[in-house]
Amino acid sequence: MIKLRNDIISFLYENLLRRVFFKFDPEKVHDWTILLGRILGNNLLFREITALFFSFSDPILKQNIAGISFANPIGLSAGFDKNAQLIKIMPSVGFGFMEVGSFTGQPCLGNPKPRLWRLTKTQGLVVNYGLKNEGAEVISQRLVNQSSEIPLGINVGKTNSPDTVGVEKGINDYLKSIQAFLNIGDYLTINISCPNTYGGEPFTEPDSLNLLLERVSELNIKKPIFLKMAPSLPREQIDKIIELADQYHLTGFICSNLSKDRSNSKIIPEEISKIPQGIGSISGKPVEQSANEQIAYIYQKTRGQKVIIGCGGVFSAEDAYKKIRLGASLIQLITGMIFKGPQVISQINLGLSQLLERDGFKSISQAVGIDVK
Ligand SMILES: Cc1cc2nc3c(=O)[nH]c(=O)nc-3n(C[C@H](O)[C@H](O)[C@H](O)COP(=O)(O)O)c2cc1C
Repeated sequence: MIKLRNDIISFLYENLLRRVFFKFDPEKVHDWTILLGRILGNNLLFREITALFFSFSDPILKQNIAGISFANPIGLSAGFDKNAQLIKIMPSVGFGFMEVGSFTGQPCLGNPKPRLWRLTKTQGLVVNYGLKNEGAEVISQRLVNQSSEIPLGINVGKTNSPDTVGVEKGINDYLKSIQAFLNIGDYLTINISCPNTYGGEPFTEPDSLNLLLERVSELNIKKPIFLKMAPSLPREQIDKIIELADQYHLTGFICSNLSKDRSNSKIIPEEISKIPQGIGSISGKPVEQSANEQIAYIYQKTRGQKVIIGCGGVFSAEDAYKKIRLGASLIQLITGMIFKGPQVISQINLGLSQLLERDGFKSISQAVGIDVK
């Protein structure tokens, strides 16, 4: 019954809705989706109707990770709900958790438009939002009196402005956001890998990261803390980041963020050549392989002692299962939902339970890292 429901919605999405959406500017469609999500989320009846279309649950998908209960492992990745306006509707769309942000110390309008493009055949997006968000103060006020039905991740980045370039200024900006959300959300993600901002990614450098984590540790945060990684970091750099994560008792890693690499063989050259040179970073299928390699590497290197959230190019249950077998305990996505439709969350969860049962696993944790142990 659930499969039939999903198949019908999937057919309608791919043959009708997506064709209409893809005729419009991607950022406009994103804004309309946020508006629709806010309207649906504000009304109990709309939320329940939405759940009828998209929900799916199975005990085999339940997990307790770092003290947090997840009904299923599929989460919304950071960057879709930039101002935390969808926390009421996303549980009805079937997500097991969601991450909001990235939030920054100062409000930020982001980079000049256009700043979002589709690579339709490549199955990816080129993103150059530049951390557009209303700023930590405003957004934390929005969330302070709201509770989320699903675990909520707070993703903080560094304000995209010449004023935050430099390690000390950057750290102060991160701390401002982190402090605003001290009592909000179930886990914290420190995004050290936003590629489209002033000053690049200084905190993927171990020395700067050490200084940042030292100051974060003084806040004595009780929530699990994750680092959001850039894809394709050299192994020696990953090793140093892992050492720091150990030293500061971080919970784990999100592997990974967008990629700047335009030479990836998954990218269709005629599509990327239409996007202005040197602008933006890529999501979706082109980042899948490097994210998977990073998941496997970190899982092996940490001997499974750190929690890995796998992210990048997940479009199907098979894609999610692959990341789990390489070492991810949880999965996040955005691009798969845009290309396949919102029912893809339920499709992935249903497919995952079938794959786990097929392979004789009684829980997700039994499958985590099985291919690299
Ligand atoms: C439109 C868009 C905006 C994004 N903005 C952010 C962001 O603000 N912070 C962040 O940590 N990641 C951001 N990302 C990266 C995603 O969270 C994710 O790591 C990446 O897209 C790979 O997953 P996907 O292939 O499922 O989209 C963004 C991605 C997209 C597509």
